Amino acid sequence: MKFLILNGPNLNFLGIREPDIYGRQTYDDLVAQVRDKARELGVEVTFYQSNHEGDLVDAIQRAYTDRTDGIVFNPAAYTHTSVAIADAVKAVGIPTVEVHISDVSRREDFRQVSYVRAAAVHTITGQGLAGYGQALEYLVDYLGGRT
Ligand code: DQA
Repeated sequence: MKFLILNGPNLNFLGIREPDIYGRQTYDDLVAQVRDKARELGVEVTFYQSNHEGDLVDAIQRAYTDRTDGIVFNPAAYTHTSVAIADAVKAVGIPTVEVHISDVSRREDFRQVSYVRAAAVHTITGQGLAGYGQALEYLVDYLGGRT
């Protein structure tokens, strides 16, 4: 099984941006952690991060062409604004888990809306970087990859 680990704007700045909220680990640390989890689960992972809405839509469409089995997706700020990204997730029909590092439910009002949520099979918030590994495990179980 192969999975896309997709990250939206400013997540390349993990470790630099608001460390009190997002922690001190970097994007490279995140990649290393998810690779370890993928190895443990025996699945293939590819990573993509972009600060641009249309690039994220393109990456989701590419996942369809590449026959990707599932997407672990932190749309970051586009979670709260982007109909185009939510439509892309619905369009490809690939099981997608929405991930947020912080607990968005306890933050500002504008973060209480998620357009992606309705298109996702599951949402994980507030688990730090561990949420990505949890999302991968969820997808492997969801797709019947573990017995
Ligand atoms: C985030 C939460 C979003 O509200 C924010 O815009 C982000 C990161 C998170 O991982 O907690 O950039 O998705």
